[in-house]
Amino acid sequence: MKNIESKLTESRKYKPDAQFSSNANLNPKLLKELNSLYKKDPDKFWANLANKEIKWIKKFKSICTGDAPFYQWFKEGKLNISENCLDRHRGNNKNAIIHITENNQKKIISYDDLYLLVNNFSYSLKSIGLKKGDRVIIYMPTIPESIIAMQSCARLGLIHSVVFAGFSSESLKNRINDCSAKVVITVDSFMRNGKVIQAKAIVDEALMNENCPTIDQCIVYKNLGKKIIFNDRDLWWHEILSPKTEIVEPEVMSSEDSLFILYTSGSTGKPKGIIHSTAGYLLNCIITNKWVFDLKENDIFWCTADIGWITGHSYVVYGPLATGSTILIYDGAPTFPKPDRFWDIIENNKVTIFYTAPTAIRTLMKLGEDLPDKYDLSSLRLLGTVGEPINPKAWVWYQLKIGNKKCPIVDTWWQTETGANIIAPIPGVTLTTPGTCTKPLPGIEIGIIDDYGNNVDSINEGGNLVIKNPWPSMLRGIWGDKKRYLDTYWKKYNNKFYVTGDTARKDKDGNIWIMGRSDDVVNISGHRLGTMEIESAIVSHQYVAEAAVVSYKHDVKGEAIHAFVTLKNNFISYNNSDFSDDLREWVKKKIGSIAKPERISFSDALPKTRSGKIMRRLLRNIARGEDITGDTSTLENENILIQLKNIL
Ligand code: PRX
Repeated sequence: MKNIESKLTESRKYKPDAQFSSNANLNPKLLKELNSLYKKDPDKFWANLANKEIKWIKKFKSICTGDAPFYQWFKEGKLNISENCLDRHRGNNKNAIIHITENNQKKIISYDDLYLLVNNFSYSLKSIGLKKGDRVIIYMPTIPESIIAMQSCARLGLIHSVVFAGFSSESLKNRINDCSAKVVITVDSFMRNGKVIQAKAIVDEALMNENCPTIDQCIVYKNLGKKIIFNDRDLWWHEILSPKTEIVEPEVMSSEDSLFILYTSGSTGKPKGIIHSTAGYLLNCIITNKWVFDLKENDIFWCTADIGWITGHSYVVYGPLATGSTILIYDGAPTFPKPDRFWDIIENNKVTIFYTAPTAIRTLMKLGEDLPDKYDLSSLRLLGTVGEPINPKAWVWYQLKIGNKKCPIVDTWWQTETGANIIAPIPGVTLTTPGTCTKPLPGIEIGIIDDYGNNVDSINEGGNLVIKNPWPSMLRGIWGDKKRYLDTYWKKYNNKFYVTGDTARKDKDGNIWIMGRSDDVVNISGHRLGTMEIESAIVSHQYVAEAAVVSYKHDVKGEAIHAFVTLKNNFISYNNSDFSDDLREWVKKKIGSIAKPERISFSDALPKTRSGKIMRRLLRNIARGEDITGDTSTLENENILIQLKNIL
């Protein structure tokens, strides 16, 4: 089979701002030292970092042990993550959390207060009988109490699994049962887009009729104070708190003890419960927060991810707190009450580091490209993106309108499974180009490999993206399913490399360009093309907001491209058939006739997961006239499928 071809020619270069570089955590000299130490002595590299960044209760002896792919890191070490995040930052009179609600209430919690709140809630969890290793589901929006719940679990050695509070009762039930959780922690309700979401009622539905036999109790935090049905198993958060402040000694955890399970949906089948460890996970969180986000103690870091995603775990709850900085959390919709909400929050709270997803950037561009001009965003010093490839047009807008040309942009590639950033720029050092996540971080070896295990050496030729070495925050398995762990991530190359499931290419400067998921590659007249480049070309048209391409069977070409496109608001009345021709010509001009979509459909939106990823699998079913198969429980906007089917 041929390798994947690249048609994208983006070569604009952005140098790090000199002032930024002079104060950055990593400069070219330090980066070089790190890379050469890793090359010379990987064990020493990791040992130095683990000694420096983690507060150990008992020091480790070994670094990375165990046979592929069941690695263990720092295995004799003992530590507690909550102690690393909270106890060591007490007494500095520093803010830990700035919380903004959708209707603009603001609450600030200091490290000292957070420490007490976590201790007190840990005491409650202990007093209801939970013990080290028990599983606890957290089904809550992004509010301080969710962070308190996660940190309390970490303090006691309970394995938490946060389930995104937008998931249905069915998804919640499946996750509870998969990990045999004992307790669910939730809220009465929360606001989203101006509407009340009855979280507790969804939990009740998940638990009804003995659906979840392992659940003993449901703890409810009174968030909005709305009425709920109170069952025998329910406990009010405020009623189980001790009236006096209790201090709970952190449980002594082994490095390899599981910290949490986080479910991630595969393209088919049931969600996988990704297991993360304690020490290794913490280490990569801390170093990437320092290296990639240049995080310092006086920063206000706003990562917009919900705590229900890995980004919320590593770049809201664990990494920044372990680093002792201040996090901002916003419990609301990005466009509520107006599409300038993000910019307003940045201005009012003097956010210094902002991390969001390309889908949010494109949506905000679509709703008001010039809206940021009205705000003073000068507090910002670094911008990040994650979750999918960012098309150069959105990157450049982000850099100009939000970053005022002075903020480095870190396009961070990683996965739920990797625990922390894997490929990303070093902001004070790396010369960036819009659309590439640049180079692997120190300590990470990346490969681009064909289906037979050969290196894809040619410049700009695409292949399967693999990670060639173990790294501390790598997943430790899939909860209850060893075979699936081996089959999904290791079998393809006989346990030698970790298979990411993404395709990528390397340019002449050694930068990595993600080309899309391997399952989504399209094959046109014998040419294999990744989805990212074609989509990026379509989206670079001035009238287009978003695009997704898939292939369908074609008599002549074997496969042809079907593009699903949403237009910017003010161009919705554009004559679609003429516009389709314009758009085809546009793609031809940008990347060549091979990538010209045979069919183009326009719709109000694209089917996306609740974390904003386009579900091309469903579009493939639609384009091919097939029934929709596989799991759709993670779909955010189910109605859009009806619209899409009808326009075909
Ligand atoms: O396809 C890649 C894409 O998101 C996948 C991981 O998704 P998830 O586990 O939900 O984690 C998202 C947050 C880390 C990857 O396999 N992806 C993530 N970041 C990027 C990306 N694709 C391109 N560029 C990125 N920066």
